[in-house]
Amino acid sequence: MKKSRFHFRLGVAPPDIFHLHVSQKKTPERSWSIEEPLSFTKRSENRVASSEAECSFNPETGEVTIRDKYGYQLLQSTGSHCSLFPRPKLIFKIAAGEEFFGLGETTGPMNKRGLKRVLWNIDVLGHSPGIHPSLQSLYVSIPFLISVREGRAFGIFWDNPARQTWDVGNGKSDELCIEADSGEISLYFFVGPSVRQILESFTKLTGRIPLPPQWALGYQQSRYSYESRDQLESIAEGFRSRKIPCDVLHLDIHHMDEYRVFTFGKKFPNPQEMISGLHRKGFKIVSIVDPGVKNDFRFPLLNRGRKAGMFVRGPTGKPYIGKVWPGRSLFPDFTSARVRRWWGKEQQVLFQTGVAGIWNDMNEPANFALPTKTLPEKCIHRSDFGKRSHAELHNIYGMQMARASQEGALNACPGRRPFVISRAGYAGIQKHALIWTGDNSSHWEHLGDSIQQLLNLGLSGVPFCGSDAGGFLENCSGELLIRWIQMAAFTPFFRNHSNIKTCPQEPWAFGEETERICRNFIKLRYRLLPYLYSTFQEAHSTGAPIMRPLFWHYQNDPRCREVDDQFFLGANILVAPILRSGARARSVYLPAGIWHNFWNGEKFRGGRDVLAQAPLDRIPIFIKAGSIIPLIPVQQSIESITADNMLLHVWPGHYGEFEWYEDDGVSLGYASGKFLKRKISLKAREGGGELQYSSIQGEFQSQVKNWTIVIHDIKQSRVMGRNKEIESFRDRNSQTLVFGLENEPGALQVSWCRSR
Ligand code: GLC
Repeated sequence: MKKSRFHFRLGVAPPDIFHLHVSQKKTPERSWSIEEPLSFTKRSENRVASSEAECSFNPETGEVTIRDKYGYQLLQSTGSHCSLFPRPKLIFKIAAGEEFFGLGETTGPMNKRGLKRVLWNIDVLGHSPGIHPSLQSLYVSIPFLISVREGRAFGIFWDNPARQTWDVGNGKSDELCIEADSGEISLYFFVGPSVRQILESFTKLTGRIPLPPQWALGYQQSRYSYESRDQLESIAEGFRSRKIPCDVLHLDIHHMDEYRVFTFGKKFPNPQEMISGLHRKGFKIVSIVDPGVKNDFRFPLLNRGRKAGMFVRGPTGKPYIGKVWPGRSLFPDFTSARVRRWWGKEQQVLFQTGVAGIWNDMNEPANFALPTKTLPEKCIHRSDFGKRSHAELHNIYGMQMARASQEGALNACPGRRPFVISRAGYAGIQKHALIWTGDNSSHWEHLGDSIQQLLNLGLSGVPFCGSDAGGFLENCSGELLIRWIQMAAFTPFFRNHSNIKTCPQEPWAFGEETERICRNFIKLRYRLLPYLYSTFQEAHSTGAPIMRPLFWHYQNDPRCREVDDQFFLGANILVAPILRSGARARSVYLPAGIWHNFWNGEKFRGGRDVLAQAPLDRIPIFIKAGSIIPLIPVQQSIESITADNMLLHVWPGHYGEFEWYEDDGVSLGYASGKFLKRKISLKAREGGGELQYSSIQGEFQSQVKNWTIVIHDIKQSRVMGRNKEIESFRDRNSQTLVFGLENEPGALQVSWCRSR
């Protein structure tokens, strides 16, 4: 590299994050992802080190090298190394056996080695099976990749919202080549060595999920579209009369007055009354909000926006007019704080009507007017950081829209947790919204694909994510809906959604058997809510995924890195969905340790594949020995995820722990100490075991009065607590031991052993 033509800077945020910045400009471009930059030690020296690793950059050749504290080479550039001209590009060596994970929403196998992906947010309506596996771009772009080599993980993030191409050993099998259309090289390296540490550091940098309102964890029903007030109310009635739990109903685009954003049309008379009626029945309403503003001079919002210069401009300086659902439309320039504030205020009307959450769709942004399906690259943004072309900022448009929706929701309902869904995103989107994976199809292949997509989103900092259960495009079948609901019940965002002109897809749409099975799995989800909520809290405080690939917990087991059709919900529940029509059994890989079949308690030694039965009404679920899982009674909608009397299921093992978490579930109080945490740990003891509750941390008053503890797979029957024997009941058939424990804020301890 010719030194006169660029500036570079190396930095370290000790001990494990390194930064390489190479640009033609002296002052680095501001980041859209990293709101509070870590303090990097700025040096123009070509070597920086921490207690964990050292990173060096050779300005003559553009070579980048990172070694860990043992001298193990984590990364080395190769060939033309690193260049800025004609466009920013770096090439790194790929080692034999090196595997790659993450890279956001991309489809295809879990291991990204051998694939090429173009990170450019795009509306890909109709990702049908024929083209799906090799799709190069999707709605979300997260330029973050995790490499795992010899059991050791390492992460790379290129913070640049322009189009990027990641060739992960596709062009040349031993080269990782990353390239951007414009912008500068701003690369972050995460030294690991565990995937968990990498995610913790990546999300420290780009942000973590805020806790959602608890109702967002419930089952959600949507359709493009429920087209009238009557239809929506009868769907609500359908859930309650059939006793199928449901918390949220979604309003897709037909609720609007000719697709004018933030309005209600004639078929939804008196929306406020409608929404408050549905609220009384326990439903929250989420409304779709697309960016395109109808170019109709009788539309006051358009006139206000035009007058104040709120829209993205074309190269000539006039607002750019594209085409979306409302017809000719203008696009708010969400890269400007002024526009985000304005949008947030306009959005208030929805909250005044009683809407509880916002669903941002088409925010890549989608544009039907051009074959490129988005804004012309020469459009102009007057962004927070100056005037930029659309090409330079494309990938952050959707995320800045979600940010506007979130900030608007916070202002409209102070002290309440916002709920925002987004289709498009960039690194850091998790701070503002959850991601749903857009328009999949009602095909078995897409059911399988969604597992890999969601796992990779979780590995890219986005733990709160989900896919349209049942599939969006084309007609679903009863069997596919059953298998999809059985899987989606264990995914963080659980919503059934289907396209216009497809057959109905509500849980009762395919007859009684389908309805019964779907109901049972939705109920199981509701029973697991306290477990799920604690896992959300872990994601909020550490960046860990909620839905996890097997290698999250077994990084050194090569089989766990290969398996891409099974996953963990949190730390203890292993789910193996059925992904084929007609399948009534499947092989399940169980990692090392002892496992229990959730349905019948049968015990298995892991480190091998087992054949698990999967009649239509169940999918294989296994619980790790050493697991602690709280359950609550089923509710039709979530009032609270705790009960006076909490059930705590325990599967004894050598050691296990669970972090119990409680708060009020709706307010922002948790951010200022109004929560409760306590560690519940399990230890094996000579001839028995013991359970310890740590004392309570935080200011929230627990709602739990009693714990009913159910110990599985147990021969002992004598329970001791506070030096007294506690009355217990042993069921020989199910091999369980049940006893009660009064809840107290101080430390608690119980043990079990053989009866005398
Ligand atoms: C897009 C969305 C889909 C929605 C439709 C109509 O295709 O991805 O979920 O139903 O637009 O708004």
